[in-house]
Amino acid sequence: MNLVKQDFVTAATAVRASAQGAKPSISVIGLGYVGAVSCACLAHLGFHMTGVDVSLEKVRSVKEGRSPIVEDRLEELLSEGVRLGRIDATQNLVAAVLSTDVTFLSVGTPTAPDGSCDLTYVRQASRAIGQALAMKDAFHVVVLRCSVPPGTTLDCVAVEVAAASGKTLGVDFGVAFNP
Ligand SMILES: NC(=O)c1ccc[n+]([C@@H]2O[C@H](COP(=O)([O-])OP(=O)(O)OC[C@H]3O[C@@H](n4cnc5c(N)ncnc54)[C@H](O)[C@@H]3O)[C@@H](O)[C@H]2O)c1
Repeated sequence: MNLVKQDFVTAATAVRASAQGAKPSISVIGLGYVGAVSCACLAHLGFHMTGVDVSLEKVRSVKEGRSPIVEDRLEELLSEGVRLGRIDATQNLVAAVLSTDVTFLSVGTPTAPDGSCDLTYVRQASRAIGQALAMKDAFHVVVLRCSVPPGTTLDCVAVEVAAASGKTLGVDFGVAFNP
């Protein structure tokens, strides 16, 4: 993996967007504690957010500006984001990835019976992101927000996205870890 090149491409994308005065649009996969808060706070900062979850109840809740979890000020910021047209939510992960520049991955990572970190949801979502990227020409950034063992971003997320998309890390898509 060419980490240096990947970093440059990712940085170049961000700098280009910033120079044009445009904020990248962001999809968030997983609308639990981390994802719902990310959607609300980034919308408050002016980003256009698309939340994705397999749970229709959570999708409806975010779409309507209601908090899917108990968290101070979350409902206030979600409803503000929906009112300003900065927050949408869907169960359609592929459509969300295709309509955004950056995807945050915040699915659950439960503890496996042997005590290790169960990456099943991270793998599933990474593959689905890859399937979407197979249909996308523009560069895309995937940001892992889950609590995972070191190396998961490159050894799991990047590998699954590349395999499902047929695209090349650092050329067609970038990855980052935002713990
Ligand atoms: N909750 C916290 O305070 C906290 C703090 C630090 C780190 N983390 C880490 O952040 C990650 C997310 O934690 P959380 O507490 O938000 O989890 P959560 O269980 O509250 O939410 C995860 C969501 O992901 C959804 N999901 C799973 N697979 C999906 C898929 N393929 N497509 C769309 N949605 C999918 C689930 O339906 C669920 O709503 C975990 O790795 C966790 O360890 C959480």
